[in-house]
Amino acid sequence: MPHDTQALNRTRQCFAGLDSVWVFGYGSLIFKADFPYIERRPARIDHWQRRFWQGSHDHRGTPEAPGRVLTLVEVPGSSCKGMAYRVHPDVFAHLDHREKNGYLRFETAFHFDDGSEVNGLVYIANSDNAAWLGPAPESDIAEHIANSRGPSGPNDEYVLRLAQALRELDETDAHVFAIEAYLHLLAAQTDED
Ligand code: BEZ
Repeated sequence: MPHDTQALNRTRQCFAGLDSVWVFGYGSLIFKADFPYIERRPARIDHWQRRFWQGSHDHRGTPEAPGRVLTLVEVPGSSCKGMAYRVHPDVFAHLDHREKNGYLRFETAFHFDDGSEVNGLVYIANSDNAAWLGPAPESDIAEHIANSRGPSGPNDEYVLRLAQALRELDETDAHVFAIEAYLHLLAAQTDED
């Protein structure tokens, strides 16, 4: 799969006749909603978990030195809490551009806190995309993140803002919080030097 997934995403779903579509944010879409939305609601999707296994060439790193950003991996029985946005279909041109570095749109069920559910779209980067970095120990991932930056800013800012946004959603994410803790340790060590 190419680095730039915009053309692929345009062929994946048909929005003809739809006034609105739900999209699920599990990473930067939770804390950076730089698009118009009709409504937003905390929601969860089942059988997926966050992992910092995707390379970022365009936001938190560069093609020569990719940063590490989130994707979702399938873990049966798990769930992932995030933020669901109901948007006009035109918004996907912006989102496809923003998330063009290996992410494809998939349809899945969103579950709201009141027990209701809707179908919507979520961007996921699979292991067959050109920017995939894959698993590594969380301490190594934190070290990589601490040393990366790109056009959207330092890579560690992404983790720290995400961890804060998850706490505001009352979500505990062991992977994200472990990497956040390692980043604090690394920052404390740097301060000592
Ligand atoms: C999200 O926040 O949902 C998201 C994360 C990575 C890529 C695309 C979307």
